[in-house]
Amino acid sequence: METRETKPVILLFTFPLQGHLNPMFQLADIFFNRGFSIIVIHTEFNSPNSSKFPHFTFVSIPDGLSEPESYLDVIEFIHVLNSKCVAPFGDCLKKLLSQEPTAACVIVDAHWYFTDGLTEKFGIPRIVLRTVNLSAFVAFSKFHVLREKGYLSLQESKADSPVPELPYLRMKDLPWFQTEEPRSGDKLQRGTMKSLKSSSGIIFNAVEDLEPDQLDQSLKEFPVPLFCIGPFHRYISASSTSLLTQDMTCLSWLDKQEPNSVIYASLGSIVSIDESEFLEIAWGLRNSNQPFLWVVRPGSIHGKELIEILPKGFIESLQGRGKIVKWAPQPEILAHRATGGFLTHCGWNSTLEAICEAIPLICKPSFGDQRVNARYITDVWKIGLHLENKIERLEIENAVRTLMTSSEAEEIRKRILLMKETAEQCLKLQGSSFRNLEKLIAYILSF
Ligand code: UDX
Repeated sequence: METRETKPVILLFTFPLQGHLNPMFQLADIFFNRGFSIIVIHTEFNSPNSSKFPHFTFVSIPDGLSEPESYLDVIEFIHVLNSKCVAPFGDCLKKLLSQEPTAACVIVDAHWYFTDGLTEKFGIPRIVLRTVNLSAFVAFSKFHVLREKGYLSLQESKADSPVPELPYLRMKDLPWFQTEEPRSGDKLQRGTMKSLKSSSGIIFNAVEDLEPDQLDQSLKEFPVPLFCIGPFHRYISASSTSLLTQDMTCLSWLDKQEPNSVIYASLGSIVSIDESEFLEIAWGLRNSNQPFLWVVRPGSIHGKELIEILPKGFIESLQGRGKIVKWAPQPEILAHRATGGFLTHCGWNSTLEAICEAIPLICKPSFGDQRVNARYITDVWKIGLHLENKIERLEIENAVRTLMTSSEAEEIRKRILLMKETAEQCLKLQGSSFRNLEKLIAYILSF
């Protein structure tokens, strides 16, 4: 039998945002279960709770962030981390690579674009984890072409025009970020593309059979091995990597509700909204008369606290029909028999978690890949409704009613159930994700 010391070692370099930590740790667990020894390299900021993963080795690097909360713009935050971590990561890698047994490869989050060139410098293969799905990946890969055609400066009048290079998408769905400094977005796209193209391979928390055309497109753009091995969270039930405390009272509240009756609302870990949008959601949910569970993350309403904004008497007027929490055990909520719909920002983790529980969606995307996901959810997969316009209470009320009670919803439920079954099949013996994982492991062991 193999001893712990002789196990092949994989180094993983996590990016300190919730939607990136979750899939990276799920991936780490997948490899651990396949006999690899895992070393997690992480920043001090948003450092993961190592006590939940006693089977991994953790190495912290100084990130030099003085006040992380002052980086209001997520793109700026990514750039700052990429410049501050070059030296600490290099030192860390040098030290780890001098130890026996030598690591087989390093897996980095795609946001660590500075790791381009690392293989040449340190002689270790670098595989990238891209946390978006294939459809968004293809859209991102067209950045330069679309930029040259002037699609990046979105004009209101053209928002609904189709994008000929990306069937299904409209101009307003293109996954660019609105940044204070446009060159900052350019720099991120350029850096990420270069780093992906020079990698030894790219891993996706995606399911080939759900996006077959997009795989061919991706292979055309990226002449490196691509491995779709998702949904990661369905391999094993791993410990949570939640950075915020999950309010577990949600589950006992859900236990008291009727099956498929509750609309769960959450805008993920980064999106923030302004006070008026917040109030529109509040009234929309309330007026739908449907029970709701709503996550309002601290800091997610520009400059205000929840308690300051909710109208006096609002909570009382719900008569127990609504529950608002700061952070929730989302996977358990989506798996609960009482949950019947999900008002979401369409982050890819949330979307995939919902598909795996066959929970229909109401889409309110904000930026980046969320817009592509929303268009696929509503127009391609047809498993949800799109709030296309500005957040407005009547639109939300109507969407919740339609999703939870109409005959249209029945059709949506049937389609998402089929997607769930496809995702499950892919993990089974000879399913696409199963086969791709086998290929990935053989590839890593061949280095
Ligand atoms: C963003 C992008 O939109 C996403 O597509 C990209 O892959 C990562 O960065 P984020 O805003 O974090 O993602 O959303 P999402 O990808 O949905 O990830 C959020 C994660 O937090 C999910 O795994 C979800 O289960 C978890 N979560 C969310 C909780 O555990 N509790 C909550 O209350 C809300």
